[in-house]
Amino acid sequence: MRLFVTDGDAVSEFAGEPGERLLDACQRAGLPLEGTCGGDMACATCHVVLAAADFDRLSPASEEEEDMLDLVPNARRTSRLACQIVLTPALEELGLSLPAA
Ligand code: FES
Repeated sequence: MRLFVTDGDAVSEFAGEPGERLLDACQRAGLPLEGTCGGDMACATCHVVLAAADFDRLSPASEEEEDMLDLVPNARRTSRLACQIVLTPALEELGLSLPAA
């Protein structure tokens, strides 16, 4: 599947495999997402901001994920933790950006 990351006016494409976590695809592409806790929802260093249309196509965040996002100072309406998103063939494409530091 095709993943897109927007950085200002620049858009880069990278690939994701069905069944893998968005965090793993981002790290493989060299995006600076630390994922320090390995997906235990304890660090929020995997925070990404999804394109609005793509955010609406995903299953909603769990209460635990929402609680962690509440602690992220630069969270937006379409923020998610990349460790909690598993890529599926049905998604086909997904756009995201990294939150401002
Ligand atoms: S990797 Fe720690 S919350 Fe996602």
